[in-house]
Amino acid sequence: MKKILSLLWLITMGIAAHAQNGNFVKLSTAKFSTGNDAAWKETGFNDTNWKNIKVGDVWQEQGYSDYHGFAWYRIHVVIPSALKKQSVWGDSLRVFLAHVNDVDETYFNGKLIGKTGAFPEDRGGYVSKWPAVRNYCIAANDPAIKWDQENIIAIKVYDGGGSGGIFMGAPYIDMLEKFDGIVFTQTEISFLPNAQSVRKLTIGNSFKTNITGKFHYRILDEVTQKTIAEKTLNANLPPLRKETYTLAFPHREGIKLYYEFTETASGKTKTFAEIAPYLLTPKASLKPMINSAGVLGVHPGSPVLYKIPTSGQKPLKYMVKNLPQGLSFDPKTGIITGTAPKAGNYLVFVSVSNTLGKDEKILTIKSGKLLALTPPMGWNSWNCWGLNVSDEKVRLSAKAMVDKGLTDYGWNSINVDDGWQAPSRQSNGEIVPNEKFPDMKALGTHLHQQGLKFGIYSSPGAKTCGGYLGSLGHEGQDAGTYFNWGVDYLKYDLCSYSDQTAGDTTLFAQQKPYIVMRNELAKQQRDIVYSICQYGIKDVWKWGAQMNGNLWRTTEDITDTWESLYGIGFSQTNNAAYAGPGGWNDPDMLILGRVGWGENLHQTNLTPYEQYTHMSLWSLLSAPLLIGCDMDKLDEFTLNLLKNREVIAIDQDVAGKQAVRVINDKQIQVWVKQLADGSKAIGIFNLGEKYSKYTLDFNKIHMGKVKIVRDLWQQKDIAKNVAAVSCIIPPHGVRFYKLM
Ligand code: GLA
Repeated sequence: MKKILSLLWLITMGIAAHAQNGNFVKLSTAKFSTGNDAAWKETGFNDTNWKNIKVGDVWQEQGYSDYHGFAWYRIHVVIPSALKKQSVWGDSLRVFLAHVNDVDETYFNGKLIGKTGAFPEDRGGYVSKWPAVRNYCIAANDPAIKWDQENIIAIKVYDGGGSGGIFMGAPYIDMLEKFDGIVFTQTEISFLPNAQSVRKLTIGNSFKTNITGKFHYRILDEVTQKTIAEKTLNANLPPLRKETYTLAFPHREGIKLYYEFTETASGKTKTFAEIAPYLLTPKASLKPMINSAGVLGVHPGSPVLYKIPTSGQKPLKYMVKNLPQGLSFDPKTGIITGTAPKAGNYLVFVSVSNTLGKDEKILTIKSGKLLALTPPMGWNSWNCWGLNVSDEKVRLSAKAMVDKGLTDYGWNSINVDDGWQAPSRQSNGEIVPNEKFPDMKALGTHLHQQGLKFGIYSSPGAKTCGGYLGSLGHEGQDAGTYFNWGVDYLKYDLCSYSDQTAGDTTLFAQQKPYIVMRNELAKQQRDIVYSICQYGIKDVWKWGAQMNGNLWRTTEDITDTWESLYGIGFSQTNNAAYAGPGGWNDPDMLILGRVGWGENLHQTNLTPYEQYTHMSLWSLLSAPLLIGCDMDKLDEFTLNLLKNREVIAIDQDVAGKQAVRVINDKQIQVWVKQLADGSKAIGIFNLGEKYSKYTLDFNKIHMGKVKIVRDLWQQKDIAKNVAAVSCIIPPHGVRFYKLM
């Protein structure tokens, strides 16, 4: 985990997700010491000589820049009895500590009130739980609480790498009210044939007490700001029970749903709002459609594995002509295998048919130096499973990729991120997987059998960002192991290698680890896509290709908020010139579907408008497309976003020209991508908070009259022979067009 997140994100997370009740006490500063001593939890311990620290920002930003390991916070806080008196429920005191990098154990006047993650000395070893929010409670009548006097909240923290300490929020103490126990969950949404949607929402009581109140909902048209429907219902929720509500409304863009639960005793209201998901991509044709960019880069003499991505009603029959010697194909699966021919370009004729029709395409196999002639597409375990990834989860993801038809659209790589490594190497230095991965080679074979690629993760440092074993000093051996396992893709993540470069600010210091692994990969007679992950340090886009990198991360880690998406996506303005066939700028993985970094898996926090923006912008940017969600639980809306052949074709365009921002006009940005066939893809983005009208005069983007304006999401021509286009764009949303 990089764990250095934008300030903006911290602020929003803190406020949006964890608003305290009316009366609360801020926990802003603490006494702080690095190291570890069990006596530091005691109320009587004398910490007057300890330094002060701000609670809520990582310690690396407060004078401990290189420190990893144990540290303690001791927060001295007077808790006024008024808190208890003014509370209606009066049951428990809540200590909110936001997030902790990486593990914590929290004591209230010496009494243990919570622990999240596992310390290195715990059974099973270190487990980071930085994404988990720490909300610890103590009964209001617990004698450990000293009302109107000073209390000591002592927090033992362990940082396993990256940043350390209490962060991403403003800690506080308050009294719980019953309405805090209310949890809204959107269980499902159905899109009915009559242009209606039906949302199922559950209101859960997470407390062991009855909660009585009223549930009010309102359905709003965001464009006209008119209420379409609203209703108030009585809601009585027994302990730990939930109630399901069904709401029906028109299936279209621009529907906002407001939910409110008002608890009777306290009169306090918990609210929740969402933009109703809506499908823009029409149902796919049942006729065969080849969804391949039509180019394949291979190294002469390396094993080839390529499944021709084709949508349409199964069974499909594949036919391939002019396949170079050494390659063969399976007419039932459309998988091409064998050994790559000697250097050269080979034009292969591909035809796919079913009972309804057929589609044909030329596939150019380019045997030479370059791999990844179009941006890689696949799945990576990180944004979903974090360090909890396992063989079983990876296999389920692969199965889902095939069963849900994603492979028909070109999604083909299954990449295991951090968390697969055993705690130590074998006596001969060989890296081995941990107990969650019984047999890596077998996993590779299993993926290959389905035409899928196998991706893996390591770090040039001694430790990965998650604290697992890295490749330092074993690079050659690890590259050999990847070869044996049939690995097709390596994400090589800087992490603790920064310890090696400490103080050395030269460019070479940053390049060195990537050169070492580049040279080791080159020795393997296997096409291994090389994903450089060092968060954009020293403008990696300028030299990533020299490292034989096929993609290079340009930023810090992404997370599923608008602030993160905006901060990363819309800042890709200075690197377009460096992307192209064989080497791509990587603004990080997709934050669509159910994500959670191994903790509290949830449907992405992006609104549907923002999700359309995400896919459109990434496609314009020629970004690698790596799904980061629980594939097994892919919902209809997310699948609809991921299976639009025209949108994917923009990302996969063979010219590989990353879009540039041509207009930045207050809240509107227009990004333009030149396509191989001479046409252009444009994204008109509304970064504002309200629906916005915009007219784009094509001469502003250096074009005259346009023959056809095609809406890519709707796969529909919307204008012919025009010199401008007018649209109304949802907040944080997009209109994504192809101008022909
Ligand atoms: C870093 C990377 C992430 C992920 C984690 C794994 O934070 O940027 O994409 O690989 O490490 O620990």
